[in-house]
Amino acid sequence: MKTQSKNTGTIEQESLESVFQTELSEAYYAQQRLGKFYGKLVSAAHSPELKTIFEQQVHNTALQISRMEKCMEMLGLKADSGAADVISGFIGAADEIIADYNEGHVRDTALIATAQKIEHYGISAYGTMRTIATLMGRVQCAQLLEENKDEEAETDEALTRISMSINQHALVGAK
Ligand SMILES: [Fe+2]
Repeated sequence: MKTQSKNTGTIEQESLESVFQTELSEAYYAQQRLGKFYGKLVSAAHSPELKTIFEQQVHNTALQISRMEKCMEMLGLKADSGAADVISGFIGAADEIIADYNEGHVRDTALIATAQKIEHYGISAYGTMRTIATLMGRVQCAQLLEENKDEEAETDEALTRISMSINQHALVGAK
């Protein structure tokens, strides 16, 4: 029984599908912003290897968006353009890093930290959506979301690997 609900009543029908649609809408608009964001990080990064990882993310976000679009088509859903802006904070943090630090290994370390938080958001969001799609019996959609999740996890691992040398350069103040 619901008592003193703080529900604003904006979700017309409470269902697993409505949770899925909210998650999908957030992720869809987040990845659209992230394509441009990673383009900015390509210019801001110092390490050529890090630039390559960020360049790959511009490509990955486009791929992930098209997989989500396929999923929406299969399920007959549309992304809600009023979806919560879940990554503004991270984008703002990266802008501050770029403004506050000169180009170099220390700035690269800070950019990697922000990018990894963003990738972890992706792993979590796609993982949740994959699970719900599986529960709803939408196997093809679940597979597409699993591909997105795996891509995010690969990026996270690549960033961890590259951070080993960049952090070391930052520690000793190498140019
Ligand atoms: Fe990503």
